[in-house]
Amino acid sequence: MATKPKTVWDSASILADTFVVDVEVHETLASTNDRALELSASEQVTCPFLVLAQSQLQGRGRGQNTWWSAPGCLTFSLLLQPDLARLPLSRWPEMSLTVGSSICTALAKKLPSEPIHLKWPNDVYLRGAKVSGVLVEIAALPRPRVVIGVGLNVNNSLRSAPVELQSKLIALCDVGAEIPLQAILVDLLRELDVQLRRLADSPQEVRTLWRTFDLLTGRQVSIDDGISRVCGICVGIHDDGALMLLSDGDVKRCYSGVVEHWE
Ligand code: BTN
Repeated sequence: MATKPKTVWDSASILADTFVVDVEVHETLASTNDRALELSASEQVTCPFLVLAQSQLQGRGRGQNTWWSAPGCLTFSLLLQPDLARLPLSRWPEMSLTVGSSICTALAKKLPSEPIHLKWPNDVYLRGAKVSGVLVEIAALPRPRVVIGVGLNVNNSLRSAPVELQSKLIALCDVGAEIPLQAILVDLLRELDVQLRRLADSPQEVRTLWRTFDLLTGRQVSIDDGISRVCGICVGIHDDGALMLLSDGDVKRCYSGVVEHWE
């Protein structure tokens, strides 16, 4: 059950100013993705449905990642039911890059002089440190839906983070940006709406965006998919979302995995 949060989110303005049709605000949750996956099973839930948490206790990430959800961090999950006629299931993997590049676009509008990059498939980097992570999960039943979980370090300065995270992560407030959570949330949701529509209707524009922010092309990278590790020079992102690595004279397409090293 949703509890009344201490810090007030303006749910009415989220509903009025974005494509979200329903919103649930929690003071504390284990994981907004877990809650959105739970909701996805209900036919009564209408999409896009937003789950927001003031504080998240067990934020999950890709692979072995966890998410550090200190106060001031924006953590939310969006439950969507894409139109299969416009975006067939075979193209859903392209959503990860599209969400990551939407976050890059929203941040670049707020911080035009800052270096913002997309580390395949959907981590967002600011000044060379991770500012945002995305976890996209597909729920198959009763009908295909997708959960887009976003963590964005906004006002949770890394000065108060565990020391092992301080060199890896960054928050917007650490580069002097004072942005209210509500404002950045609305910007992100609007950008997601625009770019996810484009993904369905004019995908080449979205693919250009992936490549505009791409961090890895031209670099030596190593990617681990849980079974094997591929090392090579990144030669770009394929139209289908795969990371392309030149390795032993062949271009290999990687569809999953975590990029562990890049130089
Ligand atoms: C990653 O870094 O690998 C992705 C992190 C994604 C974290 C967000 S926070 C909101 C949503 N709920 C979760 O449990 N995870 C995502």
